[in-house]
Amino acid sequence: MKNKRSSQWFQTPGYHGMARRAWLRSEGFPADVFDGKPIVGICNSWSELTNCNVHLREVAAAVKRGVLAAGGLPLEFPTISLGEMLMLPTTMMFRNLMAMDVEESIRANPLDAVVLLCGCDKTTPAQLMGAASADIPAIVVPGGPMLAGQFQGQRLGSGTDGRKLFDLYRTGKLTDEEWSEVEGCIARTSGHCTVMGTASTMTSLAEALGMTLPGSASIPAPDSRRMANAELSGRAAVELIESGRTPSRILTREAFENAITVLMALGGSTNAVVHLIAIAGRVGIRLTLDDFDRIARKTPCVVNVKPSGEYLMEDLFHAGGVPAVMNRIASLLHGGCVTVNGKTIGQNVATTVSQDDNVIRTISAEGGIAMLHGNLAPNGAVIKVTAATRELLQHRGGAYVFETRDQMMAEIDRDDLPVDRDTVLVMRNCGPKGAPGFPEWGHIPMPKKLLQQGVTDMVRISDARMSGTSFGTVILHVAPESAVGGPLAVVKTGDEIELDVAARRLDLKVSPEEIEGRLQSFAPPPPHYQRGYGRLFLDHVTQADQGCDFDFLMPEVNQ
Ligand code: FES
Repeated sequence: MKNKRSSQWFQTPGYHGMARRAWLRSEGFPADVFDGKPIVGICNSWSELTNCNVHLREVAAAVKRGVLAAGGLPLEFPTISLGEMLMLPTTMMFRNLMAMDVEESIRANPLDAVVLLCGCDKTTPAQLMGAASADIPAIVVPGGPMLAGQFQGQRLGSGTDGRKLFDLYRTGKLTDEEWSEVEGCIARTSGHCTVMGTASTMTSLAEALGMTLPGSASIPAPDSRRMANAELSGRAAVELIESGRTPSRILTREAFENAITVLMALGGSTNAVVHLIAIAGRVGIRLTLDDFDRIARKTPCVVNVKPSGEYLMEDLFHAGGVPAVMNRIASLLHGGCVTVNGKTIGQNVATTVSQDDNVIRTISAEGGIAMLHGNLAPNGAVIKVTAATRELLQHRGGAYVFETRDQMMAEIDRDDLPVDRDTVLVMRNCGPKGAPGFPEWGHIPMPKKLLQQGVTDMVRISDARMSGTSFGTVILHVAPESAVGGPLAVVKTGDEIELDVAARRLDLKVSPEEIEGRLQSFAPPPPHYQRGYGRLFLDHVTQADQGCDFDFLMPEVNQ
């Protein structure tokens, strides 16, 4: 193998070459590890603070077996990890920080290729962003979804069913004991959330992009095939070095169009819109909300997994996983896109047919996510149509405005909250700069008063994101956000709002002069941070329609 990147470190004549070899040998390596073996970094987002990724040390051990078998030297290294359930104010605040950590850890070290171990929501896009910028051969190995929870004869899918059961608990239909039982069984194994939330969506899209071996995304974390997949990926990483297939050769515009198509077919998370725009931005490709909407309109949602459907990731795995999904929609894909194993996407999925047409359906509705525009969202907003109530997709109602999430949380269970089933709930100051960090606050809980009347959904609008495990007629990512003076900032309680998903419109039914007048007197809230990473974030984060990457991390956009 010639022209290895790591040779710059270890084959250097004189003191520095010797010192690098000597100090690494302090880990117990014999001299012949420097005889030209390719060095494969294993970029591990393992952390006991990220339960979804806590088994990744074992996955790394399997990757090492594969690297060694292929004649390479594996070297595992940590990066920061992003645990969705624990980090405050939100993991999204730190996605770009992890991407910087991944990029610079790869670039600064003697690596010829890198294996990216991910799972929990933001860890996958952060690694893809960092690896795309570093641009040495890279392969993604997801940790896989957890197994289904079991409660009173019901199979539970992590976040989605947890939220549904919480509404029962809030309204007195579950006891304290039952609620405690749910806590013990809803997340019972290693792995990430087992619905088509953001984690499952992003690992599936890593596969659709061609950045994993085929079939990698849906293998459950505790399944023995997860480790076999990791070992094979370690071997593939060594082969990638010789081929010179770096991320920028795999992450083409056509590959991103494939990923968007698969996103719609999965009924995947709205968060993927932001993440795909950001990953594409790292290789100089500008994805727009129009790209997503154009593809959504021609792509059926075929995957019947919660929250858009009925099943869980485990079922999708048994039905054939992402390759079977891509096989089903093959006519909509760019089959010639090259992937990490050297084959095209078309070759990888050609023979994997669905084993269960209840899980991977043959007929279905339009793709999962619609992009909205209008005077309330001049730069766009998103709605997950497949998780919304059909009758509410065309709706007009009076607004009830929450200035902040704190206000919403304080009021939402009030018996005298002046709302009814037609009210449009509006919540602001929840965007990238306003919250700060663009948290998953957009799934405003249903007012208790309405739940008690049997109303389970209503139109809700914010500049926040929503967990991929959530559901409802929820409009998200309103851009520009209210904290920078987007029109959401000047909605008043009682204003009429019209949602028309078929026409892709979201409008405040107030005259342009009145909106302009209100915006004239808008004053931004004071910044949340004056120093540190928070200050860097506020100074440089872009809006939702631009992927929320930092402006200085994006190269010149050329496509
Ligand atoms: Fe990690 Fe859901 S909390 S994927």
